[in-house]
Amino acid sequence: MLFGKTIVVTGCASGIGARAAELLGQLGADVMGIDRREPKFAMAAFVQGDLSAPEGVASLAARLPHKFDALCNVAGVSGTLGAVKSLAINFYGLRALSEACAAKLREGGAVVNVASIAGFGWRQNLERAKGLAGIQGFPHVETVVEEFRIKDEEVYPVSKEALLLWTFRAAHLPLFKDRGIRVNAVSPGPVETPILAEFRSVLGDERVDSDITRVGRAGNAGDIAPVIAFLCSDGARWVNGVNVAADGGLEASILAEVMGF
Ligand code: NAI
Repeated sequence: MLFGKTIVVTGCASGIGARAAELLGQLGADVMGIDRREPKFAMAAFVQGDLSAPEGVASLAARLPHKFDALCNVAGVSGTLGAVKSLAINFYGLRALSEACAAKLREGGAVVNVASIAGFGWRQNLERAKGLAGIQGFPHVETVVEEFRIKDEEVYPVSKEALLLWTFRAAHLPLFKDRGIRVNAVSPGPVETPILAEFRSVLGDERVDSDITRVGRAGNAGDIAPVIAFLCSDGARWVNGVNVAADGGLEASILAEVMGF
């Protein structure tokens, strides 16, 4: 399905990014991984770096190949690092890398952003998400956190709301659209990876357990990787600017509750 494509995957050293990198390789792609930590298995290439600051993103982008087919933005943090770092990694670093890679993506290529069910509130918090996504470039994130009064305990959903809003917009930005580059998101529910224990401490056991109970089990990285692979593939050539929930039905259940149907 992905034979001959070169695909860059951030967050390749753990969880969803690691499984996605492995599966993309099994489906025929040359996979180039990015992470701040060494991956546990070999891939076509690995670039070590940090997405939390503009210099880190610029250095990573410069070390990527001249041309590739898809960028999977999987790396992310739970919020335990605090509002500034978390917003920088989950949103501004991800966006800066995508913008820096746009010219390297081949025509008809794809950007796949791993968001979260935690970003469900983007409509309710639209003005804040618009404000955060409206800031151009990689800003001084301390100032942004102060200006928007983002608390450490709420930064994870806030970062994912901004990411979803940007995904919808990016699909129509000339930077991507003019060369047929599709920009989509995948939103997992709770998935058994190392980050899940951190979510329990940030969001609380009750929230995580209630989400798992609604759909019968937590997901695993293998439930999410094929969705990422599909969005990278030519089979998704008419899929653009959407958020695909990969959550066992969690979003549908929450929507039914919120909208009363
Ligand atoms: P994980 O903790 O297993 O993997 C995250 C990876 O991102 C790690 O390899 C880490 O080293 C890398 N990373 C973190 N900060 C980085 C930085 N500054 N620069 C470079 N690499 C960095 O977590 P998991 O579950 O695989 O998460 C992947 C994505 O899925 C994240 O964006 C997360 O928000 C999202 N997600 C995860 C859910 C879950 O329950 N596991 C639920 C919903 C979304």
